Amino acid sequence: MSDMYAEMIIDLYRHPMNYGKIENPDIKAQDTNPICGDIIEIQVKLNKGRVKEVKFNGKGCAISQASASLLTEMIKGKKIDELLKMDKKDILDALGIEISPVRLKCALLPLKVLKMGIYSYLGELNKV
Ligand code: FES
Repeated sequence: MSDMYAEMIIDLYRHPMNYGKIENPDIKAQDTNPICGDIIEIQVKLNKGRVKEVKFNGKGCAISQASASLLTEMIKGKKIDELLKMDKKDILDALGIEISPVRLKCALLPLKVLKMGIYSYLGELNKV
C-alpha cells in the first residue's frame, strides 16, 4: 500500500469531504454493505442536468468513507450520463491502493448507491 494514499484514506475517514445532508435532493439513495451492515446514503441536487451539490452520510470503514468522499468530489458539475459511465476503475484509481476482494464491496458501495439513486430518479422522470 502506498503510504501517501493510505494517509489520504485515513485523513478522509477522519475529515470526510461532502459529509452531510441536502434539503430536497433530486437524487437520493442508500444501501448497505451486506458483509458488515454499514450504510451509505448519497443525496444530489441537480441544476440543468448537472450535479450542483452532493452530500453523503452514514457509517462505514475508512475505505468506504474515503471512497464516498472522493466520489462526491469527482462528480461535482458532471452530467447524469457521465455519472452513469463511471465504473469500478474510476473509484480504484482515485483510492490509489490495492483493494482486497473483501474490501471491494466497501470501496464500491458509494458508486452503487449513486447509480441506484440515478436510476430511480430517471425512472420517476419517465413516469411523468
Ligand atoms: Fe463496512 Fe467497509 S467494513 S463498509
